[in-house]
Amino acid sequence: MEEYIKAAAEQFEKLLREQLVRQEAMEHGAAARDFAGAEHIVIGVVGGDGIGPIIVREARRVLEKLLSEELASGRVELREIEGLTLENRLACGKAVPEDVLAAIKGCDVLLKGPTTTPKGGTLESANVTLRRELDLYANVRPVTVPEEGIDWIFFRENTEGEYALGSRGIEVPGKLTMDFKVTTDAGTRRIARAAFEYARANGKKNLAIVTKANIMKKTDGMFTRIAHEVAADYPEIEAEDWYIDIMTANLVNSAVRSKFQVFLLPNLYGDILTDEAAQIQGGVGTAGSANLGARYAMFEAIHGSAPRKIEAGEGAYANPASILKAAAMLLRHIAMPEKAEQLEAALRLCMEEERRVVVTGHRDGATAQAFTDYLLEKL
Ligand code: IPM
Ligand code: MG
Repeated sequence: MEEYIKAAAEQFEKLLREQLVRQEAMEHGAAARDFAGAEHIVIGVVGGDGIGPIIVREARRVLEKLLSEELASGRVELREIEGLTLENRLACGKAVPEDVLAAIKGCDVLLKGPTTTPKGGTLESANVTLRRELDLYANVRPVTVPEEGIDWIFFRENTEGEYALGSRGIEVPGKLTMDFKVTTDAGTRRIARAAFEYARANGKKNLAIVTKANIMKKTDGMFTRIAHEVAADYPEIEAEDWYIDIMTANLVNSAVRSKFQVFLLPNLYGDILTDEAAQIQGGVGTAGSANLGARYAMFEAIHGSAPRKIEAGEGAYANPASILKAAAMLLRHIAMPEKAEQLEAALRLCMEEERRVVVTGHRDGATAQAFTDYLLEKL
């Protein structure tokens, strides 16, 4: 037992020092990149696992059409990144193999399909690794249900909380396990700033800070305190504290849910609440997600690789809507808002108004390819 305690104490010291270095580096973080005048923009395209390559292929076709001029002139390049598959990751014993990471770092933005994370073992989620390696601290997830007046946007902290050291907990075999949750001053300040800046720029008046600060007193306590410090610079925005449990209830309470506008959350609560929100919109297959940092940005579906769908032989019927919404967010990020709007308008027409080709996710619906053919017609 003494040996375990000693080893754990040593590990803890190492983690603490590492995290302090990370916090220090963030304090000197650069401002976000502006693509407006960029001469050359490289969009990395990563298929991933399971239904990933199926839906990413469709999103690529849409980008090829929307960006045809820019691709022809060479201003934009679509670069296929191979090797972020479960087989290759397992073979290399790396969540993101080094050559793949180097290729990704050679791009400006990424369109990424879902990747499978093996349960147990020590292989970290490729998503978590990429978010950390590329310092993609803001996970931005919009959810709308126009007929109900729901227009939500979630700012989920994306690099710390339970995720920072999720694969590096402590175990005393047969006795106990312990994981760590990390919240830093600089890490909280930058995500809070992003959420309030968005609210201000988009005329939003309500911002919900969602934590469990009554229980996670240190980490969520700090998150709440810093969020309010940042809020002081935005007096026109009403910043309200909510606990995650009641907020999950609020989202299914149609009497109150449409009053919420912007949500600011630590990592794990953001993960959970955004799946719930996406389900309210029509399913996790319908929501896009942006992972933003100062240097890089990654756009993806909010769902996973759907191994059960592949096993059932229904991969071709996967809904490409989520990755297509992510592609629209990507276009807006690289300063092409008209193209983003064009894609979003076509998606609204195909999914809400006309609905001539409907994807259900199963054999009774259209394939991802058939839906995308329909969307391309309407673009
Ligand atoms: C998400 C996903 C990821 C997460 C998984 C795939 C690691 O659920 O992007 O929400 O937990 O963040
Ligand atoms: Mg999730």
